Amino acid sequence: MENLQHKINQAIASIRSLTVRFEDAVAFSTSFGWEDQVITHLLYANRLPVSIFTLDTGRLFPETYKVWSDTIRKYPVEIQAYYPNTNAVQKMVSEKGPFSFYESIENRKECCYIRKVEPLTRALKGQQCWITGIRAEQSTTRMDMKASEWDDQYQLTKFAPLFDWTLDEVKLYVKHFGIPYNALHEKGFPSIGCQPCTRAVRDGEDVRAGRWWWEEQTKKECGLHVR
Ligand code: ADX
Ligand code: SF4
Repeated sequence: MENLQHKINQAIASIRSLTVRFEDAVAFSTSFGWEDQVITHLLYANRLPVSIFTLDTGRLFPETYKVWSDTIRKYPVEIQAYYPNTNAVQKMVSEKGPFSFYESIENRKECCYIRKVEPLTRALKGQQCWITGIRAEQSTTRMDMKASEWDDQYQLTKFAPLFDWTLDEVKLYVKHFGIPYNALHEKGFPSIGCQPCTRAVRDGEDVRAGRWWWEEQTKKECGLHVR
């Protein structure tokens, strides 16, 4: 934990300076993964004035709802939930069925757009800074991102406070502070998204190998983090 203290302090200081610069317009998106749980705890423990939201796609794992529930029970934080547009989901599922995303990349992107990207656009409205749990280590495409960058799509500053943390450091923080975490992480799921689009990874596989595993590695961003 001592070795990590420097990175923890740095994350707190960076978020604090963003809240000063952007006042009430800093928002953090959580999908309740390890990284996001660290950030929620950092915000709570250091009273950082950042609003928290999640995108409930309607296709999440039961374990994800459990950690969401455990988190708001343990920490008095408000997590604003955003939902997909009902008409858009009804139309897509009525026309193409509940597993359309396995049939083509276009269908998969359509589903991600309706269930995540459009709700994200609503969630980020009026915000000037967006905090995420992205780490460089997670994938080759993320490796050439920066901890802080201008997001052209959403027209705001995007900041990843754990960008240079290793997975072991993230886990250490979670265990040290007894933070609730997704039970699937102990069952081979280092990266957790929607249930039909996430599988466990095998030893030696990339942390994001279990996301949209039927697609090519380079095409796997869902539209939340395109650049
Ligand atoms: S994804 O684009 O492939 O789904 P990933 O699961 O790696 O992203 O998560 C990276 C970051 O994106 C998370 O730390 C979180 O900030 C944000 N994020 C991903 N999914 C959601 C979600 N359903 N709700 C809110 N934020 C999310
Ligand atoms: Fe749809 Fe799968 Fe994207 Fe979730 S991850 S929004 S179920 S395509």
